[in-house]
Amino acid sequence: MKVQIFANDQQVAQQALSMLNEVVENNPTAVIGLATGSTPLQLYKLMIEHKDKYRQVTTVNLDEYVGLGEDDVNSYHYYMHSNLFRHIGIDKDKTHLPQGVGGSLAKLCQDYNRLLSNNRQDVQILGIGSNGHIAFNEPYTPFDSVTHVVDLTPSTIADNSRLFDRIEDVPTQAITMGISNIMASKSIIVIATGKAKAQAVYDMICGQVDERCPASILQRHNNCTVLLDQDAGSLLPAHLDNVKYIA
Ligand code: GLP
Repeated sequence: MKVQIFANDQQVAQQALSMLNEVVENNPTAVIGLATGSTPLQLYKLMIEHKDKYRQVTTVNLDEYVGLGEDDVNSYHYYMHSNLFRHIGIDKDKTHLPQGVGGSLAKLCQDYNRLLSNNRQDVQILGIGSNGHIAFNEPYTPFDSVTHVVDLTPSTIADNSRLFDRIEDVPTQAITMGISNIMASKSIIVIATGKAKAQAVYDMICGQVDERCPASILQRHNNCTVLLDQDAGSLLPAHLDNVKYIA
């Protein structure tokens, strides 16, 4: 695991973009794993400025809420379409997210797993939840999990409620890539910004590899880079062998 700490979130996004650009310069039809939430929004703005590089990629997203269709403004389908896909002119058939509606949940999970086995990520962008979750893999999710349905924890529902009109509107379940689907990516870029992520970031990097902190498994990935702003990195010890501070 490599860790880089930058002065601010704009520099974090810039570095994530440089790393993604390198992947697609080497392979214009790369499979890119994408994430939702507030953290990647800066990165998506920068990708739009470099849209010619991203027209031919295939994308796979981490997760989707159960019960929200793609036209629902709170769905991750809608988020990806409005924040990235429609601006870069990518063919819709090459963009994939788990479906939160349209069949039995078991079948929707199976379908997405099949899709992932045919589209292994060259790079996966990841955020981290304040409780250490990755995608919607909440604490104690088995490390060998594949795409599955999750009951969201009260803390995740509370964190994500800021994007909804009312907390009662936040779905209580989601379909998420499992931890082993994430670990299968050839490379992983974790981005985290802000003080609210500092403890989860500390546990991910310095804690024991333990299912209590799903992100801690990333210590075992052979090509994982963590990009942080100073707030998100504020609990890390001053000297860590794998940490590069970039002011
Ligand atoms: C959600 C998503 C995660 C994301 C996390 C953090 O729960 N399922 O993939 O990493 O939120 O989001 P934010 O970047 O808004 O803090």
